[in-house]
Amino acid sequence: MQFIIEGGKKLNGDIWVSGAKNAALPIIAATLLTDDECILDNVPRISDVETLLNILKSLGSAVAWTGEHQVTICNRNATFHNPDYQSVKSLRASILFFGSFLARFHTIDMIEPGGCIIGNRPLDTHFHALSKLGVRMEKKNGTYALSSDGLRGAEVVLLEASVTATENILMAAVYAQGVTVIKNAACEPHVQDLVTFLQKLGADIAGNGTTTLTVHGVSVLHGTVHTIIPDTIEAGTFLMLGIANKGKLRINNVIPEHMDVVLEKLKMMGAKFDVSDTTITTHSHGIMRAAKIDARPYPGIPTDLQSVFGVLATQIQGTTLIWDTLFEGRMGYVQELVRMGANAVICDPHRVLITGPTPLYGQEIRSFDLRAGAAMIIAGLIASGRTVINGAEIVSRGYERIVERLQAVGADIQQKDS
Ligand code: EPZ
Repeated sequence: MQFIIEGGKKLNGDIWVSGAKNAALPIIAATLLTDDECILDNVPRISDVETLLNILKSLGSAVAWTGEHQVTICNRNATFHNPDYQSVKSLRASILFFGSFLARFHTIDMIEPGGCIIGNRPLDTHFHALSKLGVRMEKKNGTYALSSDGLRGAEVVLLEASVTATENILMAAVYAQGVTVIKNAACEPHVQDLVTFLQKLGADIAGNGTTTLTVHGVSVLHGTVHTIIPDTIEAGTFLMLGIANKGKLRINNVIPEHMDVVLEKLKMMGAKFDVSDTTITTHSHGIMRAAKIDARPYPGIPTDLQSVFGVLATQIQGTTLIWDTLFEGRMGYVQELVRMGANAVICDPHRVLITGPTPLYGQEIRSFDLRAGAAMIIAGLIASGRTVINGAEIVSRGYERIVERLQAVGADIQQKDS
């Protein structure tokens, strides 16, 4: 698939943020913790979500889209078998079934997960933490075999504030005998949304939004209705598109307090935008100044916005340091930006210096990971001339109807299924 973009058009109008992919994925996995019906609203219709829903269907669960963005799930008839090879290979987030499979079936075998190539993404944090709850892990010919004779509560100190490791431990702990204390937990908005969902099922969890979560094991959980939070990464992506394009974009369905540091940093750099309870509106702005952009665990700047800041930096007066303190493989987009005319120097696998402002010129480029792909769309929209983005399917994997939503605010972007 390709995106064909004619850049330089002023964008104007309303764009709606979809439900958060990284909240929907763990919450879909967590529905396995109850036999009752769960109704999820504001679920993005993206292939990553379909992949996890298909894994539930393969267990015999009842799964149906009961609205444009509503999915109804009932796992009453789910029987055990391991997630299929193709699903796991296509989507790293399949690892989110570790916790709920262990809680429900006490076992899961999974091959080495696939997904975006953005650096070494060790599962040590997951296995180290799960072992504290009584989970045995064996790795044999590329497959992880996890099992337990019954999960028991424990104090768990995460080796790093891993988002999916926090989520897996939470799901494993809700039925564990006794109390589990998770220290150094991730507290991203999507982790908080999972905790809220689990509490609505009847789980006993304290400390939501902090780095220490305390879970008292219970014996049964019931169904619920839950609305997935808006996607903070989409909101930040559209916000920086409006700023870089110098257009007037109103971004709807936003929870501004989920992106305090991003908003504060952009304001300090000179960006002008208005924030209401649920919208952010960009408007014409003065000269923006360069800054240090350091991607960190929440509440810091999300690593998933690092490449978007990189594109914005090409249009800013001065030299911006982009420092991804988490991933060492997320600078691939920089070489594509340089080919479009950017002035950038990669210092090491975590850091790049970008000096602006420089005009960008349309090119044929690639999208390296889901989030860099979205950043390259912005680069194409602000460049002059035609940009062709190859491997665009990786973007539509995580951004629902991205082409239509951008066309609706005046972008000249077409999708070509190669
Ligand atoms: C989740 O991945 C997200 N995926 C990723 O989004 C996101 O980039 C990442 O969290 C970080 O926010 C889902 O939620 C499905 P990690 P996860 O374990 O859990 C290092 C997307 O495009 N690290 O939190 O696999 C760690 O070693 C995807 O939506 C530290 O160095 O990520 C690993 O290399 C891409 N120190 C990387 O960061 C820390 O304190 C990510 O770690 C924590 C993590």
